[in-house]
Amino acid sequence: MGSNMYIDLYHVSLYVCVCAVGLTGTKYGCGGGGCGACTVMVSRYDPVEESIHHCAVTACLQPICSLYGAAVVTVEGIGSTRTKLHPVQERIAMAHGSQCGFCTPGMVMSMYTLLRNKPKPSMEDIREALAGNLCRCTGYRPIIDGFKTFCNKEQCCQNGEQRVKCCLENGFTHNLDDNVKLFRVEDFIPLDPTQDLIFPPELIVSVEFSQVCVCVWLNLQTIGGNIMSANPKYDLCSVLAAAQCTLQIISTGWSILKVYYLLAVFVGSS
Ligand code: FES
Ligand code: FES
Repeated sequence: MGSNMYIDLYHVSLYVCVCAVGLTGTKYGCGGGGCGACTVMVSRYDPVEESIHHCAVTACLQPICSLYGAAVVTVEGIGSTRTKLHPVQERIAMAHGSQCGFCTPGMVMSMYTLLRNKPKPSMEDIREALAGNLCRCTGYRPIIDGFKTFCNKEQCCQNGEQRVKCCLENGFTHNLDDNVKLFRVEDFIPLDPTQDLIFPPELIVSVEFSQVCVCVWLNLQTIGGNIMSANPKYDLCSVLAAAQCTLQIISTGWSILKVYYLLAVFVGSS
C-alpha cells in the first residue's frame, strides 16, 4: 500500500471494513438498509446503567466513524463448522431454514442479538427481531420453526383448519408431532449465555456517550436517510407520503429554495 493512500473514514461503512479484514460471512444485498443481509451486532457499554447494550445493525449503513468505543460481532464470531456452531446457526440449519444462504448470516445475527438481550424471547420478539431481514428463497416458515425453539412457551403447531389456524380452535389436542420431523428439540445444543463472547473490558470506559439513536428499523433508520433514499418501500417513506408531507429545501440564508411533495419524490414524478 502506498503511504499516501487517503481513506475518507467518514464515508466508509462498517461493511467495507469487515470485508477488508477478511470477514466475508456478512453479505451485501441492497446496500441501502433494506434487506438485512449485512446485519451484525454492535455492543456498547452504558456507563450510566453500567450495562452492555446490544443492537443489530445493518453494516452497509453504519459509518465506521460512528463506532468509537463499540464492539462489533460478525457471524464468524459466534460459531463455525470448523469449531462449533452456535445454537442459532445449528437450529436454522436443522430446520432447513437456509437454501441459497444469502440471507442466513443476517438472520442469524438478528436472532443472536435478540438472544443476547433476551435469552427467552416470545414469538412476538422473534418476529420483531427478524422484521428487517428478507429471505427470497427459503420462505420464513422454516426459519421461524427453527428459531421458535428458543421460546419459553410451546407454540401452536398450526394444524387447525387448512393448517393455518390454531389446532385448539377446532377442539383438537395440541399436537407438535407433525412439526418436529426435521429435528428433535432435545437434540439441539442448548443455549448457554455463559458461553457467549464477553464485551472487551478495555472498551468499558467511563465516558459519556452522547448518541441519538432512533430505534426503528434495525436501530439505524432516520427520517433524513429515508427521504434521501426516496425509496417507497422503506417504512417511514410510506408514512410520510400518506401524511402528505412536504420537503422544504432551505438555503443557508433561510430562504426557501424549493418545496417537494414527498409522495411525488418517492414515485419519481417530481
Ligand atoms: S446490504 Fe441490504 S441492508 Fe445492508
Ligand atoms: S436462503 Fe436464499 S434468500 Fe434466504
